[in-house]
Amino acid sequence: MSILSILDINITNKILFIRSDLNVPINSEGNIISDIRIRLSLPTIKYAISKGAKIIITSHLGRPIEGVYNHIFSLKKISQYLENILNYKISLKKNLLNNLNFKKNEIIMLENVRFNIGEKHNDKELSKKYASLCDIFVMDAFATAHRKHSSTYGIIKYANISCAGLLLINELNNLNKIFKKPKHPIVSIVGGSKISTKFNVLNKLAKLSDKIIVGGGIANTFLAIDNNIGKSLYEPKSLNLAKKLKEKYNNFIIPIDCKVGISFSKNTSVKTKKINNILSNDRIMDIGKNTIKIIIDILNKAKTILWNGPLGVFEFTKFSEGTKIIAYTIANSNAFSIAGGGDTLAAIELFNLFNKISYISTGGGSFLNFVEGKKLPSISILKKYNSINIINSDNIKK
Ligand code: 3PG
Repeated sequence: MSILSILDINITNKILFIRSDLNVPINSEGNIISDIRIRLSLPTIKYAISKGAKIIITSHLGRPIEGVYNHIFSLKKISQYLENILNYKISLKKNLLNNLNFKKNEIIMLENVRFNIGEKHNDKELSKKYASLCDIFVMDAFATAHRKHSSTYGIIKYANISCAGLLLINELNNLNKIFKKPKHPIVSIVGGSKISTKFNVLNKLAKLSDKIIVGGGIANTFLAIDNNIGKSLYEPKSLNLAKKLKEKYNNFIIPIDCKVGISFSKNTSVKTKKINNILSNDRIMDIGKNTIKIIIDILNKAKTILWNGPLGVFEFTKFSEGTKIIAYTIANSNAFSIAGGGDTLAAIELFNLFNKISYISTGGGSFLNFVEGKKLPSISILKKYNSINIINSDNIKK
């Protein structure tokens, strides 16, 4: 069953509630470090403006405590950022008011949905409240489509019409394309520091891929099966799983050398070592030259590349080489390449390769859930309620 798109609906003069994922990294000085999610959310907003819709937009930001306003998680920065890009006034509302007053050339932004009590529990009353604010709900937050929350799930039950925004449609089209008929050889790269969430996806990827390259904390967990990895980041509780995966599939590419430091700091001294020479004070923070050579060779033969997670601590220049060279190799490859996950996108931005990857997904957890073959709750409920919408509504373009 396909999903109703914003393009299928008459939105002129209608009140639209757009749920985007504007959850971008913000540093301690309050600056947005990567604006990819904001930029990729723009097509839906611009389309709605061009059609003369009255726009309410909202998102979550971080993980605040429900019911407690905390300026660190306020969407203020995001609203200012959007104002500059769109050249439109964005009026940020702290409370969910009933009669929103739409002024010309103004968009209403509702504060971080996660300040609202009940958001994360998909509270029925809150979902109804959101729905009551609009004529049409537009789900555009692919990166939050795996969350069954009031603003990503419950609202769809109660809104007069719900549809998908342009970013969501684009994500689903591209991800379906790669997973329906991917061209072989398929090479997956899974790295990063969020180890446990990614172990679930390794089984699925090992089956799908011709080669599966591991980096970061994931690689360290594989290495820890039969090596001393000193003080390196790894996950003891995933050791058994790593062992089973390594025994079951013979397509895992695990580092043979690495760069180590002795503290987690950009100023620590660096040494390149073979894996069997790691000392108890060493921390693995990047892959070594011989591993890089092996990976380049594999990537150069690939027809499809799927990348989630950096191969080292790329934020520290001394340990960025592995991730950087691999990112450039992917960017210069003729393979269809797809990258997803917050850290991966940050690395792609840092190395200025945004336009060189075939497809960039805004999803982190949702991307991994999709790869695992799990159903995304927002997508399932959109499909369910779309057919009801189509039968009951005069607003659908027929
Ligand atoms: C993400 O960053 O992956 C999404 O914005 C979802 O955020 P969450 O993991 O806090 O739900």
